[in-house]
Amino acid sequence: MAMHRLNYVTMGVPDVAATAAYYEEFGLTPTSGNRFATEDGGEQLRIEYAPMRRLVELSIGCDDRDDLERITTRLAARGLTVERQPDSLTVTEPVTGVRAIVEVTSRLVQPEVPPTPYNGPGRVERTSPRAPGLVREGPVKPKRLGHVVLGTTDLEATFGFFVEGLGFQPSDYIVGHGAFLRCSTDHHNVLVMSAPVTFLHHTSWQVEDVDEIGRGAMRMLENNPDRHVWGLGRHYAGSNFFWYLKDPAGNFSEYYADMDCIVEGQLWTPEDLEGAKGLFSWGPPPPASFLNPEDLAAHMTGAHDAA
Ligand SMILES: [Fe+2]
Repeated sequence: MAMHRLNYVTMGVPDVAATAAYYEEFGLTPTSGNRFATEDGGEQLRIEYAPMRRLVELSIGCDDRDDLERITTRLAARGLTVERQPDSLTVTEPVTGVRAIVEVTSRLVQPEVPPTPYNGPGRVERTSPRAPGLVREGPVKPKRLGHVVLGTTDLEATFGFFVEGLGFQPSDYIVGHGAFLRCSTDHHNVLVMSAPVTFLHHTSWQVEDVDEIGRGAMRMLENNPDRHVWGLGRHYAGSNFFWYLKDPAGNFSEYYADMDCIVEGQLWTPEDLEGAKGLFSWGPPPPASFLNPEDLAAHMTGAHDAA
């Protein structure tokens, strides 16, 4: 696959300072000018001002200039204007207005973390007195950006842009509602879903294991229980454990661990997921505000005002 990773996302929010403080507390490391780094992925979040919360930009890494040529040709065939630099291209997704940048980027090789020992029937992996998740003390620090979820008013067009234009691979489908797409070995790096208005649904950040999800979310909720959105649970699509929280702008941010890894596309069979399976395997039922965030009506009004 020519593309191999997500580099970073830029989110636009009305209150940059409050949102920046939230993501620092979430475990990202501030670098400079409202940019934040993960432990393994480098600078992966940029926050800038926008009157309504939105995904401004998505940067994707590819291997070489030949990849850029092929992607440029495909995008041009769709009638899109592609801005070329020697080692990158920029194109705007026509429905959502999201700026996609594809850049020649070296591949991300994450340092291997030893597996967390879990005891099971007839299987003693841990002989120390307590599980490691109970005795960890430091802050939870996400390893890298995993995926971004985008609501679009024209699913077919946005799907076509990512799949036929940029070259993402579909991993699973939510019948009539969305598609899980990958540009790396992760089960999904982008999920496009139909929505009454364009918006950024969530960004998702990889942590070491399920204990880190619990530890991270509980800390975020300690003094701000209203940040809770949905969790703890396990998705069917991607298999990952999840817990969703809400930033001050209304974007959801997810801690995740143990996602399916698709190394050989031929060995993976995309499924058409219906009903709850499209959402989760186990966990509490998702709140209505997960699929329809409370500010969507205001977004629609704002969109009409702006039109
Ligand atoms: Fe997610």
